[in-house]
Amino acid sequence: MKVLITGGSGQLASYLFEEMSAEHDVTGVDIRRPAHQPAMGRVTMADIRDLGAMTEAAKGCEVIVHTAAQVSVQRSTEDPSGDADTNVMGTISVLRAAAAAGVRKVVYISSAAVYGDPQRVPVDETHPLSPKSFYGASKLCGEHYTGAAGSTLGLEWVVIRPFNFYSPRADPTSPYSGVITKFAQAVKDDRPLRIEGDGLQTRDFLHARDVARMVSLAASSDVTGETFNCGSGRGTSIKELADAFSRIFPEKVAVEHAPPSHVRHQGFGGPDGQGRAPVGVPDQHRSGRRATRLLPVITGCSRS
Ligand SMILES: NC(=O)c1ccc[n+]([C@@H]2O[C@H](COP(=O)([O-])OP(=O)(O)OC[C@H]3O[C@@H](n4cnc5c(N)ncnc54)[C@H](O)[C@@H]3O)[C@@H](O)[C@H]2O)c1
Repeated sequence: MKVLITGGSGQLASYLFEEMSAEHDVTGVDIRRPAHQPAMGRVTMADIRDLGAMTEAAKGCEVIVHTAAQVSVQRSTEDPSGDADTNVMGTISVLRAAAAAGVRKVVYISSAAVYGDPQRVPVDETHPLSPKSFYGASKLCGEHYTGAAGSTLGLEWVVIRPFNFYSPRADPTSPYSGVITKFAQAVKDDRPLRIEGDGLQTRDFLHARDVARMVSLAASSDVTGETFNCGSGRGTSIKELADAFSRIFPEKVAVEHAPPSHVRHQGFGGPDGQGRAPVGVPDQHRSGRRATRLLPVITGCSRS
């Protein structure tokens, strides 16, 4: 099957290339050149907002995995219009290009930011949607357009909502990078780990490779019209994370505290309301009760 990855030069895309290339013919589009080996030579320079370029890139593809986005909560606060331009208008362009090029299915990479502050944990897919940031709002808007493209344009679709993923391929120079990347960079630079507030706020951390596995399953399965969380199912506080760094680098790690920032996404994704993992789903795929719909693919019993 031919697969197009938008945001092909990004962190998640690099793992998608690794995950999917053995079985599929995978290419990407991006506005910057790839920094990671798995994507090298496979990414065409194209802006997702350019409908013509996207339609051209999508020709002959069966599936588009749409990862391209403005990914920073902080930047979305500074420039909400720019954020919406990429995450909403860009997504509309991807969906229109998919339909124009005869693509069968779009897998839209959303975010757990669509939930806002957790009203209960674990946060499963039935949790109320109340984004607290412009970023969360634009990602949720992209979800709605993706669903509407199912009924309006006849596209099959799956939405994946990852929690906080990390990898050594996250950009350490970006002021917008996630807390694991920031802590790792601080250790390398002999700087203290900076904890905002009391550090008791929890996150659900998982490796980008595990997200790529789930996205790959969603792309190759016959599941359509469904939304899945993608998380570890475990909450880790920022303080626990700092303690883990201290255990690994006992001589190097100091901690400093800073006032809490305004926008904080907390909580963790969960298997179901009782915290039970779906039977047979490997640890790294304990992403939500409804992920059991992807089980036939995990166990190799899929029709597709
Ligand atoms: N990193 C996380 O913890 C996290 C958590 C939840 C959801 N997500 C979502 O996962 C997806 C991938 O995240 P990532 O960490 O790999 O981010 P990333 O920044 O590494 O990759 C995103 C890529 O999109 C590209 N891009 C941006 N605007 C574009 C445009 N107009 N046209 C074409 N390409 C464009 C960027 O150049 C970049 O290479 C995003 O949709 C993000 O919202 C990320």
